[in-house]
Amino acid sequence: MQASETRLAPEAPASPRLTAMPGGVSPRRALPRGPRTPRLFQSLRYSLWPYASLDISTRRYGDCYTAYPLGGPPMVVFTDPEAIKEIFTSDGAELRAGEAAGPILGPILGWHSILLLDGERHHRERRLMAPPFHGERMHVYGRIMREIADRVVDGWPLGQPFPIHHEMQAITLDIILRAVFGVDEGARFARIRERIVRFLAQADGPAAAFLAIRPFQIELRGLTPWGRFVRDREAIRAELVAEIARRRSEGTEGRTDILSMLVEARDEQGEPMTDAELIDEMFTLLMAGHETTATSLAWVFHHVLDRPDVLAKLRAELGRVVGDGPVEAQHVPQLEYLDAVLKESQRLTPVATNVIRRLTGPMRIAGRDLPAGITVSACIYATHRRPDLWPEPERFDPERFVGARPAPYTFFPFGGGIRRCIGAAFATYEMKIVLAQVLSRVELGSAPGYRMRPVLRTITIAPSGGMPVVAERRR
Ligand code: HEM
Repeated sequence: MQASETRLAPEAPASPRLTAMPGGVSPRRALPRGPRTPRLFQSLRYSLWPYASLDISTRRYGDCYTAYPLGGPPMVVFTDPEAIKEIFTSDGAELRAGEAAGPILGPILGWHSILLLDGERHHRERRLMAPPFHGERMHVYGRIMREIADRVVDGWPLGQPFPIHHEMQAITLDIILRAVFGVDEGARFARIRERIVRFLAQADGPAAAFLAIRPFQIELRGLTPWGRFVRDREAIRAELVAEIARRRSEGTEGRTDILSMLVEARDEQGEPMTDAELIDEMFTLLMAGHETTATSLAWVFHHVLDRPDVLAKLRAELGRVVGDGPVEAQHVPQLEYLDAVLKESQRLTPVATNVIRRLTGPMRIAGRDLPAGITVSACIYATHRRPDLWPEPERFDPERFVGARPAPYTFFPFGGGIRRCIGAAFATYEMKIVLAQVLSRVELGSAPGYRMRPVLRTITIAPSGGMPVVAERRR
């Protein structure tokens, strides 16, 4: 591997300028109405009250408005399924997800990450990375997922509150380490896990917001947040280089982990992924797959623990399908009510509120002419709460999904089109196994006095305080 390949790219791609509109209309004037408060205020409001701030804007401006985030171009937000369809069915030439995400994610994931690529490079990467995540392969990971969930549940205190979100993070991290990185238990596992936990604490911690801001990216021998971040990232990188080298020299026969499959993958020219590509993609899978899944699980507990009717139905289904034994691969497709509960939780409290694309040229979306340089958002949260699509949208009602498929472009917790989450099947399978296992092992209730507030973490919206619960042994 070239030394230069291992470094983070020094520069983010340049931002395109807003172009003039036909007839010389200023691009900003052509944008839909939206909040006129200062950008700092708009960003602060979203950081403090992520869901409520979207509710306020939708109530005031309807299904299309312009928001002005701090440090970025204007963002035109859509919640109308027709507009969402236009965004998701674009071939990616004019609507670029990589360019939109680059300035924030580039320094964290590395510039080879699929999340930052557009056009042909994204297409190639997607073809290389998609096969290991195919839905039919997921049963391969079922046993690992169940064992990890069981081990974590074994450590829970009985009768005292503990934050279940943190426990879900422990489960999803170990699942990524074993199923994606292919690191087995033992000293190597413990060492890599410890390094990743330290790295994630930087990327998710209080200094996370500064990591993406260039003037704050000063290393100072590991004394600054950025310096510590780079140091921890390099330590994991070294472990990954060793893991890749091991697979290249020993072969991957008999291995089912996703890293092994990516090492073996070949593009249409018969070329493998380079080490630099593999490393950035492993960081991407870690960052995109760990916190999102843990937070989605925490939200399910928030919704079901105060609903004895929903819990009773879930338990009845588990008893009928799984019985007294552990949940096995063949049970998962039969757990229809569990599937509905999961979807309803993702509808009401999606962990990502917006899916964002950047316009490289002027474009007409939902009958509106928009200038190049802006971003557009398919707003997951606000679309999922439209009363015309989802009657009584604030009510948690899994029955909406029982025996029914949502209308196209009305439900998209995993985004859509050519950029739809590559790990959607993996995450869904994992969440079902974990929920089935937890609910069959322990009785859970919300911690006394807990009042949930949705809070913005680095990349997700989560229930506040780690979602404290109390566990009791199941009778
Ligand atoms: C419940 C858990 C998860 C949620 C809610 C979620 C959500 C999302 C969303 C909203 C996107 C953007 C899609 C778009 O731009 O249209 C995305 C992309 C992505 N996700 Fe997930 N994700 C989850 C779990 C995972 C897992 C487990 C992995 C892998 C281990 C993963 C890997 C990725 C990757 C690689 C992309 C980029 C795809 C591309 O740009 O082509 N995600 N995810």
